Amino acid sequence: MADRFRIQNNLETLRDFSAPGEEGTTRLSYTPAYRQAVDYLKKEMEAAGLQTWEDGVGNVYGELKGTDETAPVILSGSHLDTVRCSGYFDGQAGIVCALEAARMLKESGKPLRSSFQVLATIMEEGARFPNLTGSRYIAGENGEAQLDTLRDQDGVTLREAIRQCGFSGNLEMTCRKADSIKAFLELHLEQGIRLESTHTDLGIVETIYGCRWFTVAVNGATSHPSTPMNLRKDAGIAACTLISELAALVEEHYPNRATVTFGKFENHPNEINAVPGRTVFSVDFRSGKPEILNELEALLKEKLKAMESRFRVKTELTLYSDVPPTPCCAEFSKILEEQAAALHFSTLRMDSGAGHDAMIFAKHWPAAMIFVPSHNGLTHCPKEWTDYGNLAKGADVLCAAIRQIDKLD
Ligand code: GLV
Ligand code: MN
Ligand code: MN
Repeated sequence: MADRFRIQNNLETLRDFSAPGEEGTTRLSYTPAYRQAVDYLKKEMEAAGLQTWEDGVGNVYGELKGTDETAPVILSGSHLDTVRCSGYFDGQAGIVCALEAARMLKESGKPLRSSFQVLATIMEEGARFPNLTGSRYIAGENGEAQLDTLRDQDGVTLREAIRQCGFSGNLEMTCRKADSIKAFLELHLEQGIRLESTHTDLGIVETIYGCRWFTVAVNGATSHPSTPMNLRKDAGIAACTLISELAALVEEHYPNRATVTFGKFENHPNEINAVPGRTVFSVDFRSGKPEILNELEALLKEKLKAMESRFRVKTELTLYSDVPPTPCCAEFSKILEEQAAALHFSTLRMDSGAGHDAMIFAKHWPAAMIFVPSHNGLTHCPKEWTDYGNLAKGADVLCAAIRQIDKLD
């Protein structure tokens, strides 16, 4: 059975590879803290008897060799990057539980036919470069062009960031052939309250909600606060009006079907005694239905137009990321469910409101997800928590499902 103390030790060590001075864990891709976490993870993988490597963009692998070198491999893991001021379970729990499954497989003395690879992806969160960029490179959805066109908020290109962090940038060894992979299994915190509130051990994910992200820039004119309200071009008030109207519409018309979040908001020049001449903010739409994402995008465009004439401003809309709702592999979800039942763990079928690497991989090879409870549903904050015993249960199910998938032709 999985050892909760090994899981705890790995997670609590990873927790502290974090940018100094930030609350919780802040580990953006390609930062010094990220490099330290990669080096620690590789050491732990090697101590477990896995062969390790980094691909060209910084995704990290640890492989337990199977008996048949020609068999497609089984992959399991999640992301190693975090948002700013995060907890230390989001993503990392999936890597550590896959590593624990590898340890159990190795210790059993009964090798698999397929090789089993533990995977730690980079750039899942979108906190520095667009979300899911590491898995897009693995799946071959991104190429050389994006190494130069993707930039962080300081203008550093992806190619420069990769080089600065000591990765090779070689895309040939990064992109995986679809038929060389038999399955991807991802364990993750639920990031909601259904499992905890129903006292259920584990969730089996059916659909991962899609997300559509935009950056909106509102251009008005900076002026003195004494400028009459009907004469000013106040980008800040235009942005705030749009935000409150859109949030109210989504709440009223799409309850339990969609969400909208405005996580970033910047005023320029950001002075107490200046009308903001430029405001830039982010829009994050989520839904399980692609047609709803289209409706929400249309609503946003309509509201932007209305703001332009009402507040005498000009707006620019840029699509930052667009990932459609994605179903998980039914066959492998069933295997996860059956293996949980065999271990006497209760399960619940559910959708994922959050995005995951599995949604990129599912388009190319079978991918399935297992959720563990999130305490109070909190995530992307230092209070994010799950009991280590929950993770041990998840690792046990992962391990059993890997054995089962290995037996399939
Ligand atoms: C990943 O955490 C997401 O934004 O869904
Ligand atoms: Mn996250
Ligand atoms: Mn995550």
